[in-house]
Amino acid sequence: MAVPADASGTHPEGLLAQLALLRTAEGAAALELAASLHAAGVDVLAGLDRLRAAVGSELAGPAWGFARLRARARPVFGPDADRMFLTDDTLEQAGRPELAARRAARLMAAGGEEVDSVADLGCAAGTDTIALARAGASVLAVDVDPLARELTAANVEALGLADRVWVVAGDAVELVAAARGGEVANCAAAVLDPARRAGGRRLLDPDRWSPPWPTVVDLLDRVPVTAVKVAPGLDHDRVPEGVEAEWVSVRGSIVEALLWGRAVSTVWRRATVVRDSVAHELTAAADPGQAPTGPVRGWLHEPDPAVIRSGLVSLVAADLGATLVDPTIAYLTSDAPAADSPWVTSYRVDEVLPFNLKKLKALLRARGVGRVVVKKRGSAIEPEELARRLRGPGEASAVVVVTRVAGKPTALVCGT
Ligand SMILES: C[S@@+](CC[C@H](N)C(=O)[O-])C[C@H]1O[C@@H](n2cnc3c(N)ncnc32)[C@H](O)[C@@H]1O
Repeated sequence: MAVPADASGTHPEGLLAQLALLRTAEGAAALELAASLHAAGVDVLAGLDRLRAAVGSELAGPAWGFARLRARARPVFGPDADRMFLTDDTLEQAGRPELAARRAARLMAAGGEEVDSVADLGCAAGTDTIALARAGASVLAVDVDPLARELTAANVEALGLADRVWVVAGDAVELVAAARGGEVANCAAAVLDPARRAGGRRLLDPDRWSPPWPTVVDLLDRVPVTAVKVAPGLDHDRVPEGVEAEWVSVRGSIVEALLWGRAVSTVWRRATVVRDSVAHELTAAADPGQAPTGPVRGWLHEPDPAVIRSGLVSLVAADLGATLVDPTIAYLTSDAPAADSPWVTSYRVDEVLPFNLKKLKALLRARGVGRVVVKKRGSAIEPEELARRLRGPGEASAVVVVTRVAGKPTALVCGT
């Protein structure tokens, strides 16, 4: 797959040359200076001036650009970011290192002693390769893109992992098609994270991913010790028989979805909810079906998106003695809050009324509500716009949930 120009407009060939320059001793010194200028908050023009004066114009631009990306990567990659080489593109595509580590550990544990080498089929800047090497694997890092290969090589070297990683050119489609005896490219395990963007846009159709969907299915069929990263919106119908699908959320947002090879899969679906760095896992051996529906009671529960996407809302409903407010809406209701549950956020229901802006406004005024947070599900309203229109002079605050209850547009005024 051709790699698009990065956001700064520099094309891959230019970036390859820049990367080579920065990997020299002079390049390292230039990067160090650029990082200190970034850390001091020096702006781009002054920064480039200072760099040109200190390291020359050939190194100044590349050092500034890569240091800028290191600063951007720091919240995600932590201290590793200060040594890594990234581009706008690879940073955008990179998974979270802590989740890559979790994935690598599960893959290695499932593979047991037979798995010591893992193929990373599309390594980009090497997030998965690094996690696998740190988990003890020898890694064959494959990519069609020369820049990706150079970045991975530079990163494993910078992080002291080069003796466990072999970076090679290859096409994952061909390698998977040639996989035999549970191995791909002579590795007994694989990670595949297809490119799911092109031209800055998400590719919703899995057949347009690179490698495309048939290669995903082929890999899951041929190499049982496998982890494939897929789009969180993947249709359940696509998940092959015997393959576990997992959705992972961090602080209430889905960050990744995974398909596990048949030697790793232990359940039908898994929702992993990461809160305060602790991963809570909800699993079902088979489709648990839909939760029953019932009238709105004293508490409304908003399930975490990983629970919803993995199709496990009914497990949480059973646990809480809760029912759905509508068969098509993933809000649960029960008589009590779900104290300390990682699966839902609970709201006390103070009022339930048919959705009507005028009446809702009047009710909020009467309750002395000033600040309003709007949540919606199954409604076309714009939450920010509605919150602005409902805002009042009062001191109190409220959460207004606009949804369907038993098929009817309804507003629930909830306490926070
Ligand atoms: C989403 S990125 C991988 C990101 C990586 N796992 C990470 O977390 O940093 C996908 C990578 O697959 C590579 N790729 C796409 N099609 C490929 C193919 N047919 N064979 C090998 N690599 C491919 C792309 O060049 C890109 O580097």
